[in-house]
Amino acid sequence: KDHGIVQYTSPSNIALIKYWGKLENQIPANPSISFTLNACSTTTKIEYVKLGKKASDFSFDLYFEGLPKEEFKPKITTFFKRIITYMPFLLEYRLSIHTSNTFPHSSGIASSASGMSALALCLMEMERSFTKNMTDDYFDRKASFLSRLGSGSACRSINGPLVQWGKSNFIESSSDLYGIPFPYDVHPIFNNFHDTILLVDKGEKQVSSTVGHDLMHGHPFAANRFKQADDNLGKIIGVLESGNIKEFINIVESEALTLHAMMMTSNPYFILMKPNTLSIINAIWEFRETSKTHVCFTLDAGANVHVLYPENEKDKVFSFIKEKLVPFCQNGQYICDQIGQGAKKK
Ligand code: PMV
Repeated sequence: KDHGIVQYTSPSNIALIKYWGKLENQIPANPSISFTLNACSTTTKIEYVKLGKKASDFSFDLYFEGLPKEEFKPKITTFFKRIITYMPFLLEYRLSIHTSNTFPHSSGIASSASGMSALALCLMEMERSFTKNMTDDYFDRKASFLSRLGSGSACRSINGPLVQWGKSNFIESSSDLYGIPFPYDVHPIFNNFHDTILLVDKGEKQVSSTVGHDLMHGHPFAANRFKQADDNLGKIIGVLESGNIKEFINIVESEALTLHAMMMTSNPYFILMKPNTLSIINAIWEFRETSKTHVCFTLDAGANVHVLYPENEKDKVFSFIKEKLVPFCQNGQYICDQIGQGAKKK
């Protein structure tokens, strides 16, 4: 084909068991599992035109929310260099990449998972248009594999509602190279599970996740942490099947705090939580105790808080969030999201 247009919308995801620490080539140091989100997503469109001859370098334009964006180009060039062995046809095309997010830019919501997976899916759609009989499984798996090379956690955004990534003896089909849809039955209590994302601090993170992952090399607690993540994966598999929500809360909150504990105990050490992050956590604990609901929190590598709760408690919990937690948000900003089904072709 000489030219064409491909377009995908891909969501963000929130890890229940956290990936923190990696080896060469974006191989995770421990397995992880995440909820795929729905509202927080990136839509990317690529217009491609065949060049007269194979180029020696990547040729592309990049537009973010309608405007040319030079700052994002180096990251994309690095990504292209990593994937060129798997997509050699890229050097034969000129690409015009148009991308936009549903969530506010610099909201402290990581756009790498949705952004890198949307880009990888567009490239896969190009490959599919030149390939006969590509199966959906192959498509998804390679899209996840490529996403991983853009940003580790991005490999968990292709499918939904739960995606597992990283080799573990608890899941035979697991792989370090790509994420897989959670292969077991999931209890209905997790249907339509809610994630209200409280934007506590929209500033640039002082420490990038790349640097954070690197600090797990030589970290005094690394070996124990990697083993704990795998043990927690084993436990959460049973919990997702049985619907044991108390145990779910225990694992998920412990994983979030352990992630931040790794940051506080690395060298150099750092703290990404803010005072309001802690105020929110304490308010959630107090409310859970008094209301007998099953609301819990998790954290990314930042100060924002993801508030998780089941569908049948949504009215009660959301009133609490609006009244007691939103006052801790920067400019009162929050995003209502829910567990989602994965990326979609546009
Ligand atoms: O995908 P990265 O390299 O930005 O790492 C993200 C790591 C966490 O979000 C903190 C945890 C996770 O598993 O998503």
